[in-house]
Formats: sequence, structure tokens, C-alpha cells
Amino acid sequence: MKEIKRYLVTAALPYANGPLHIGHLAGAYLSSDVYVRFLRLSGKDVVYICGSDEHGAAITTRALKEDKTPQEIVDTYHTQFRDTFNSIGVSFDMYHRTSDPLHHQTSQDFFRVLNDKGEFVKKETKQYYDTEANQFLADRYIKGTCPKCSHDSAYGDQCENCGSSLSPTELINPQSTISGSKPILKETTHWYLSLDKYQEWLKEWLNNGTLNGEKLHYPEDWKNHVIGQCNSWLDSGLQARSMTRDLSWGVDVPQELEGAEGKKLYVWLDAPIGYISATKQWASDNGKNWEDYWKDDSSALIHFIGKDNIVFHCIIFPAILKAHGDYVLPVNVPANQFMNLEGDKISTSRNWAVWVHEYLKGFPDQQDALRYALIKNMPEQKDSEFTWKGFQDLNNNELVNNLANFVNRVIVLVNKYYEGLVPEFDEDLDIVGPDDEEEITYHDAEILRLFDNVDRLCDRLRKYDFRSALSQLMEISTNGNQILQHNAPWKAIKENPEQVKVVMNLLVQYLHTMAICLRPFLPHASDRLRALLDQKPLTESGELTDLCFQLCEGELPITNGHKLSKAKHLFSRIDDDVIETQIEKLKASKTQTANIATADSSLAPLRDTIQYDVFIKMDLRTATIKEAKKVPKTDKLLQLTLDVGFEERTVLSGIAEHFNAEDIIGQRVTLLANLAPRKIRGVQSQGMILMAENADGKLNFVQPSPESENGSQIS
Ligand code: 2FM
Ligand code: ZN
Repeated sequence: MKEIKRYLVTAALPYANGPLHIGHLAGAYLSSDVYVRFLRLSGKDVVYICGSDEHGAAITTRALKEDKTPQEIVDTYHTQFRDTFNSIGVSFDMYHRTSDPLHHQTSQDFFRVLNDKGEFVKKETKQYYDTEANQFLADRYIKGTCPKCSHDSAYGDQCENCGSSLSPTELINPQSTISGSKPILKETTHWYLSLDKYQEWLKEWLNNGTLNGEKLHYPEDWKNHVIGQCNSWLDSGLQARSMTRDLSWGVDVPQELEGAEGKKLYVWLDAPIGYISATKQWASDNGKNWEDYWKDDSSALIHFIGKDNIVFHCIIFPAILKAHGDYVLPVNVPANQFMNLEGDKISTSRNWAVWVHEYLKGFPDQQDALRYALIKNMPEQKDSEFTWKGFQDLNNNELVNNLANFVNRVIVLVNKYYEGLVPEFDEDLDIVGPDDEEEITYHDAEILRLFDNVDRLCDRLRKYDFRSALSQLMEISTNGNQILQHNAPWKAIKENPEQVKVVMNLLVQYLHTMAICLRPFLPHASDRLRALLDQKPLTESGELTDLCFQLCEGELPITNGHKLSKAKHLFSRIDDDVIETQIEKLKASKTQTANIATADSSLAPLRDTIQYDVFIKMDLRTATIKEAKKVPKTDKLLQLTLDVGFEERTVLSGIAEHFNAEDIIGQRVTLLANLAPRKIRGVQSQGMILMAENADGKLNFVQPSPESENGSQIS
């Protein structure tokens, strides 16, 4: 394999159709950010790319719902995403957007090259078309009954109840979500990429890391679940896939091509090309050559994504890149699994999420507390879980009690004993004692141990093992606390002040090391710790490599006499009431959404049209409830005696779960008086009273105005 000269790191472009939640951060953005910061600290040439994915049916759906244009929707979320990533410290070199003309041009050019090379096959198929809205329907715009589990609101591409992947024509009773009408199948032509042609080399490239005998990556460094998911796709055989869609919003298929009118590029030829257009933008802003990163085989391309995008980035996009030619293929795709929230799947539509922009508002200056909790629980190999209680525990026990406490003790003691000046110490003083046979002083030995820890941490970061790297970081802090505890400078300062100088000098070197090692994970805390050490924020340009070199050579990074600042806490405790408020908020949002969902979906659909002569046959009369009692041994039935003006009627009504018998005496009602009598539970029911059902299922009497006397006919 070629020596790596530069890194091109991408993070999945988020859809600009709803705010970012913690699942997004834990899935692709924190992992990539930690990795990129580590590369920069290691002095590597790296460009970190992302942007808003501003096309796709989800965006047009949202626009329709909110009565806005798609551009208005994506403008709002693009700005929000950029600010949110910035505040939480996700350090993209370029955050671009797919509605940018540069992107449209780049993806169209890509399409042209594939077309000119004969990689597409144009095929005519039948797809659902909404004759009222006059448009073809994207899979998400079609709802119907799932053929697998009979769920009545399955989408054209997936049933959210049983998780099955579907194609729109499999749905029973398909319905357009735009107009509610029954769609028809209509002929349409699309450009298909024959993925089956690439099956063999994809298998070899993924599983052996080789292509035409050349070694391109090490599959043993890839996550098992990533290779596993791809192999199960490959094993079931790749098929030609349509790369275009009939849509109104997106990148146009190059208009000079025959039949291109109304056709847009599908997400597969749009979003990942966004990585390329974003790199072009970055290169032009920074005087670089984008092709060095995409076309030179000494570049390492790494895609950070969530598990829902594995096939896309390990099969489809590599196939597209290779079909085009000239481009490098990824050396790794360290996809994460999903993060759940308080025992349930995170869901934008159900509002079951912790929204990052809301967290930032509610917890100002505590960005790193969230980063810590999400990295500590990153779903690297399997799905994981975020709970507010867990978040509080991690903050209070690990960040405050361990990390901040250690830092604080060291700074306070150096200020107290040496007026903040890093003490000079006797280099020959071995404070372990006469039994220690090693020809190395305590200070030197501890610096070497520190180096070992840092080295292990780097090793784990290189392997995308971010949880374990974070534990290694905390171990440095734990070791530091132990050194402090073991040497107890507050006691030794009187009997053995020379020993205290050794210990405090050592611990200041610990703090310097920690400020650098913290940086990939908790960049804000790193800056704060650097300020306590009277150092500028890191520029992320090789400082970690320099540190390793110094530690390994026994050179002390912080020199004697360097003046520290006054102590200040790195992290603050989070109290129970703050956490309770968040839990309540989350629960309330779920209830609210449930109500909205019911309101949206449960108003009964209109029944089939009837003719006037059917309606006129019904004899509706006004009446008053004179008596009411529960029908024994039933849950639902009340027996009502109605005053219908010209007579009394007995009617059984299934409203006992909604009303107490004694509460409804005197209520005016509407009676369907000529309904054929029926015997129910031994009682003859002579008609039916009319009830109106709200969207939330609540029943109300359909009441005549007070002026209409009992027995009046309604017509
Ligand atoms: O699945 C998604 O979130 C899409 N916006 C695509 C992301 S991957 C892409 F950027 F290639
Ligand atoms: Zn289903």
C-alpha cells in the first residue's frame, strides 16, 4: 500500500429538513471530529468535509406541510446546522451545501462522464403517478398497507412498523400522500447503473482490500458490522439501480440529454458528490488543489457515517467513483450504529430526541459535557443508549470529581507553595526509596509511564476506537490523582519540601499532556486547561507529535519557573433539578406529539358518496335524555330513556366509557328515530343517538339548539 501523504475525511451530509439531534452527533459527527483533530495534532495534512444535503423528498414534504418553498426550508436548516456544529465544536474545514451552483455543476459533470462512458442503461418502467397533483410520486409520497405486517401506514420504500424494505408497487391500497388520491402506474424512463457489473471487484476490494492485485486497504481494520452488511448485500446479488428520479426539486439531469426534462439526480449521485464539490470549494478558498485529495493514490479517503448509509458508501459510491475512473476509493468507512434515547429509538417525527441546538441553549458553556457523554457511549459496535441520568453521572463523577478535581488540586497547590511558578527540582532525587533498584528516578519513570499512556491513547484513536481512547485519557487523570494522593504534598511540604517539588513539577507536566490529549474529545476544556497553564489554545498543528517526542526523550514540556494562572474549575456539577426538567420536557414532547399525531391521522376519513334519496330516508329527531343507567355486565352500554316530544323511547348507546349515566340526564340529543329496532342484552333499542368524535377520540353529543322542541324533525 502507498504511504499516506494526506487525509480526506468526510462526514455524511445531514438532510436539511429538521434539526440535529444527539443521534446525529454520536453517529458520524463526533467520531469524525475526534479523528480529524487527532490527525491534525499529529501533524497530518487533512481536510474535513461536510455540508447540508438539501435535496430529496423529505425536504419537499416538509415544505408542503409548512407552506414554504424547499429553498426556504433548506436555508433555515443549513444556517442552523452550521451554527450548531460550530458551537458544539465539530471542526469542519468546509461545511458546504448541495443547493450551491458549484455542486449542481459538479454532479452534472459527473453524470455526463458516466453517461459518455456508457455506464448507464436507459430503461422504461411503470411508476406511481398522482393524477391530481400531476406528478410522479417519490417512494416516500406513497402510503398503503404493508404486505408483510398489514400496518396501514407503510411508506413506498419501507414499513416503519416491521422495518421491511418495500417497493411502492408492493403496497396494498396505495395512496398518494400529496393529494390522498389513488395513484396510477405510468410509464417513465430513467438512467440505470448496472451495479451487477461491479459485483466481483467490489467483493474482492471489500474483503481483500485489493483491486487488480494492488493493495488499497486493510479489511481487518474495518468494523465487522460494516463488512458484514456489505457482504450480505453482495451475496444476494447486485442489480441495476436507477440513478435518476421524477422530481421537482434537486439537481437536474443534464438538460442536453434526451428525455432529461423533469428528471433529477437520485441521492446516490447527488449527496456523496457533495463531498467532492465541498472539497473544490475548500481548495479554491485556501489555494489548494482539490484533485490532490481525490485523485492521488497517496490520499486516504475515510467516510464517517451512520449504519443506515453503509451500503451507500461501501458499495454504491465506490462503484460510482470507479465507474467514473481517476478517483481514489475509501480506505475505511468506520460507520457507527444507532444511539437510542431513554429506552426508545430517537425519532424526529415523534419528537423523541435531544435537539443539539436546544441543549446548547439550556447548557451554555457545557458543550464538552455532552461531547463526553456521547463519545463515552458512542455506538461503535452496537446500538447504545443516552439517558439524562447517565449524562449527569458522567459529568458529575468523571468530569467534575476526577478530571476537574485533579486539575484544580494541582493548580491550587502550585499557586499555594510556589506562587504559581513551576518548581525546579533536584533531578537526582529518587523519592521511591532505597528498595527501588531501577536506575531511573521517580520523575523520569512517571514521565515514561505518561508517555506510554499517551501512546496507547494514540493507538486507539488510529483504530477508530474512540470510547476506549477516551477511557485511556481518563486513566491519565486517574493516575495523576493517585500520584497526588500517594505523595500527599499537603503533608510532605513540611518534612520533605524537595520531594514535593518533584511531585508538583511532574503533575504540571501531566496537566500539559492532558490539555493536548483532551483536545480531540473535549476541545473547549482543552482551551480552558491551557488557559490555566497560561498557554494559548492549540492550533492543532502537530502538537501531539511534538509532545510524544518530548516525553519519550525525557524533555520536559513545561519549563521551570513558568507561571500558571489562578485556579478555576474546568467543569461544573449538574444538579438533579436540571436533569428532572430535561426528563419532563422529553416526556411532555412525546405526549404532545402523540396528540398531534392522533389529530393528524384519526379524524375519520370521508365515507363513500351517497345520493340524496338515501339521506332523506333517515328520520332525525331532537330529544332530551330523561333517564340514564348502565346496562349490567357491559362496559360500554348505557340505557337511555329519551323524551322525543310525541313519545318516550328507550335507546341503548355505546357511550358508557365516555360519560357517567347521572351526568348526562337533561342533555339534548339528536336521534335517528327510524332505525330498525334491535334487541341488545335483552333490551329493545329503538333508534340511535348521534355522537361527534374528535380527533383525539373524545365523544360529544350532537345537540340541537335550545329553541327546537323535542320531536322536531331535522332535515
Ligand atoms: O442519509 C442521509 O442522511 C443522506 N442525507 C445522505 C448522507 S450520506 C451522503 F452525504 F453521501
Ligand atoms: Zn410492515
